[in-house]
Amino acid sequence: MQIYIEKDYDALSHRAAEHIAARIREKRPFVLGCATGGTPQGLYRELARMVRSGLLDFNTLSTVNLDEYCGIDENHPQSYRFFMRQHFFLPAGIDFRNSHFPACDARSCAAFEKKITELGGIDLQILGLGKNGHIGFNEPGSLRSSRTRIVTLSLETREDNARFFETKGDVPHSAATMGIATILDAREIVLLASGEHKARAVFQMIRGAVHEAVPASFLQEHPRVLVFLDAAASKEL
Ligand code: GLP
Repeated sequence: MQIYIEKDYDALSHRAAEHIAARIREKRPFVLGCATGGTPQGLYRELARMVRSGLLDFNTLSTVNLDEYCGIDENHPQSYRFFMRQHFFLPAGIDFRNSHFPACDARSCAAFEKKITELGGIDLQILGLGKNGHIGFNEPGSLRSSRTRIVTLSLETREDNARFFETKGDVPHSAATMGIATILDAREIVLLASGEHKARAVFQMIRGAVHEAVPASFLQEHPRVLVFLDAAASKEL
């Protein structure tokens, strides 16, 4: 794993955006794996700014998203489709027809895996990190061999994500997510983590044993992972 420690959130977002933009300029067409959550918002802002300044274009870009909640539709403001439109696709002028999400039935999960293969695989997957070490919605206990599937969210994850919903009870109980094996098939992975509340999970991901108890620890087995941290998230390293 290559670790980059930046002084704060803006600096880490900027550095990660520079890296991803360089990769997208190198290879066309490009398949970008996207993540949601609070952490990648600054990165998406930077990439959209580069497009508006003419430094980057997404004409031959396809996107695949890591995960999506079950039980809320794409017009719900907390659905990940809505998030992506608002934070990335609209500001960066990305054609929605080239964007793919997993959905909450077994047939759609299999179709999503097939779509990734048809696109030629994921060139670069963006990841955030859950406080309990989850990636996508692969909660502790997820298998190294897991593929896109429907999962039950842990209480901790529902509590962490409650800040985006009106009440805790509104947070969905399940989601569709790429599996660990799906993520590890990406040619390159860029993981972002910011803030002291992520420091323990960052430590376990990088220095801990490779184990299902911390799904992000499986990233140690991937040959090309770049981790962008701010100083607070790197505190326990
Ligand atoms: C959610 C998402 C993850 C994300 C995590 C951390 O559970 N499914 O993909 O990495 O939250 O989110 P945040 O960046 O808001 O801390």
